[in-house]
Amino acid sequence: MTMAVKSILVAICLVATSLSAEAATPVNPAIHIATKAYGRHHNTSYFDAPSAHFDADIQKMLKKMTIKEKIGQMTQINQNLFQLADGTINTTMIEWLQKEYFIGSYLNNLSGNGVNFNAQGYADVISTINEITLKTKSTYKIPTIYGLDVVHGAHYIANATISPHGINQAASFNPAVPYAAAEIAAKDSRASNVLWTFAPILDLAVNKQWPRVYEDFGEDPLLASVMGAASVHGFQGNYKSNRTKIAACMKHFIGYGAPRSGEDRDSSWIPDRFLHDYFVPPFKAAIDAGTATAMESYNDINGEAVVGSKKYLRTLLRDQLKFYGMLVTDWHEIENLFEFHGVSSSVEAATELAIKETSIDMSMVPQDLTFPEVLYKLVKKGTIPVSRIDESAGRVLQLKKDLGLFEKNGWKTNKALLKTVGQKSDHEVAINGARESLTLLKNDKNTLPLGKSVKKILVVGPTANKLSYLAGGWTIAWQGSTVDGWQGEADDKQFYGNGVTILDGIKQTAPKGSQVTYLQGVDINGNIVGGSLSSVLDAAKDADVVIVTIGEHPYAEAPGNIHDITLAQGQIDLVTKVAAVNKVVLVLTEGRPRLVYWRQVNDNNNWQPLYEFGHGLSYSTFAYSNITVSSTTLTPKDSVKASVIVKNSSPVDGKEVVLLFVSQPYRSVSPPTKLLKGFEKVFISKGKSQKIDFEITADMFRYTGINDVPGGSLDAGVVKIQIGDNSISLNLKLH
Ligand code: BGC
Repeated sequence: MTMAVKSILVAICLVATSLSAEAATPVNPAIHIATKAYGRHHNTSYFDAPSAHFDADIQKMLKKMTIKEKIGQMTQINQNLFQLADGTINTTMIEWLQKEYFIGSYLNNLSGNGVNFNAQGYADVISTINEITLKTKSTYKIPTIYGLDVVHGAHYIANATISPHGINQAASFNPAVPYAAAEIAAKDSRASNVLWTFAPILDLAVNKQWPRVYEDFGEDPLLASVMGAASVHGFQGNYKSNRTKIAACMKHFIGYGAPRSGEDRDSSWIPDRFLHDYFVPPFKAAIDAGTATAMESYNDINGEAVVGSKKYLRTLLRDQLKFYGMLVTDWHEIENLFEFHGVSSSVEAATELAIKETSIDMSMVPQDLTFPEVLYKLVKKGTIPVSRIDESAGRVLQLKKDLGLFEKNGWKTNKALLKTVGQKSDHEVAINGARESLTLLKNDKNTLPLGKSVKKILVVGPTANKLSYLAGGWTIAWQGSTVDGWQGEADDKQFYGNGVTILDGIKQTAPKGSQVTYLQGVDINGNIVGGSLSSVLDAAKDADVVIVTIGEHPYAEAPGNIHDITLAQGQIDLVTKVAAVNKVVLVLTEGRPRLVYWRQVNDNNNWQPLYEFGHGLSYSTFAYSNITVSSTTLTPKDSVKASVIVKNSSPVDGKEVVLLFVSQPYRSVSPPTKLLKGFEKVFISKGKSQKIDFEITADMFRYTGINDVPGGSLDAGVVKIQIGDNSISLNLKLH
């Protein structure tokens, strides 16, 4: 297919890989309030963070508790051990688990016959667990902490507000978007007695084929850092005193987003230099933002399984990055040292390695009781010292205390909060986040916005009338909302009557008096629906414009592995055929970049990305002035102010993302072409101009050099800064 497609609109509620200014949209006051609040505090010590030392009462508890009780705090068990498929809670099982193992934490979505519980349902179950726990004979009464993947809103809790996935939040280039999304998600979770989310997801989505691209904040270290920190702040805020907040969990530490083959959990080969310069910054930003917890990752790096690695989970995470919070494993990871990674020859050896060498505090076991049994034996034998158990149990207890679980009503249901779950004002914030993430790649002859002359709109394609395809994986069910909870038919009934499909949205906003018709054409796998495309093509000829919506089936983790990033051929054929007879607006709904142009060339000699990182259009056009600088000499002591004037030279008000890239043509380690070092999203009224200033610091040119000291190298010489299409050189002097 050549560029037969006349106009392309990428309006992606799952993913926007080229990030941009968005089209003019109505402005919601809520998001602006969030921006203001966030803007005021995000650079200060306003937010809480875990402290380096345990409180005196925690230290006292550690002295009195038995080894079994402390190991219980380090153990996390899945919900399916106490919940039957019909949703019934097996309280006898919980009593037994607490009596025998003093389990410290449970996880996962609560549902009955495939239907998720609502906030009240969650709150009741978790209260029941804690009532049983507090009745259990033990040295102290310690409530459990419930963990859940609240990764784009509390999507496992019926009727809670779902927000855009991480990749969309990043595409907004507005940190208030992840901040506001996390605030709502925290409130809905806390109302449900879920005090701990496994988010934000800070993997750099380096391998585009990887089925977890959409969960992340993209592939850029700075963007992921800013968005990740905002998300942590939104979830946690003042979590040590504010009882509408929950603990964030930065994940997956580290190197998970670069699987060699693109398959989930494949090995990553990452030289230390690149680990420090690209993969570490988002985690460092989350630690600096105060993340209370972290999750280690499934992968190995250069053959070293992260879960058993002193290098990554002790030296890097604790000693270098100064993470004082609580570290949980990913699902079954300690046992995986034996069963998957091939590093330990028994579960005993795996447990010994993980606990001795790393700083893991809690094992997401999660479906049996091997971990507490084995760890207890290792402590009894003297293989693992009690001090090591105290270190981890202490972190779990401190977290629980900080979240208010030791307070009289800290673990009890907050009825006032329950009433706010799914409230309309939260929907508005989520919709604004989605709007801010829309990315317009191409708009030939100003096809968009559709004008008054458009009377007949034909919508075709499989993703137009299914919320399931819009929402993607990790929505309602792990694999998305499908009839079989796996890769079956999309099932929109699971959205509790909420949500607006692309088709509904078009109908609601189409020019007055226009007629909107829908014909599916092909299914998500590209199979023609109804035997032939002739009725689609006839209708296409007759329409004023055809909106073609194509994309991916929902998926999460390994079940989403693919071996070819080209979209289903039948979907591409649909676009090609329709574009041959009429003007097309193409809407892509994807969790990762998928090829629709088979003629795109990407090899070493011929790199032609269709759209570079940061590309995006809006209905406005902006003109950039030349860059002016306060000095042409940059030193570690004296930063330089670089300014541009951005003019909205169109008759439409709009937002623009102003990006600052830096580069250094010569340095001791081959330099990257350019690196994003700053961005600002601005609203500029038609005809108006705005001056944007960036502070350029010498640190922007630091890197991990030949000697492999993290960020230890800074070379004097010419450096460049680029804003818009303009660039300017500075002289970097070290003294
Ligand atoms: C995923 C994690 C998730 C955990 C619990 C794992 O398979 O990798 O991201 O938090 O399951 O659901």
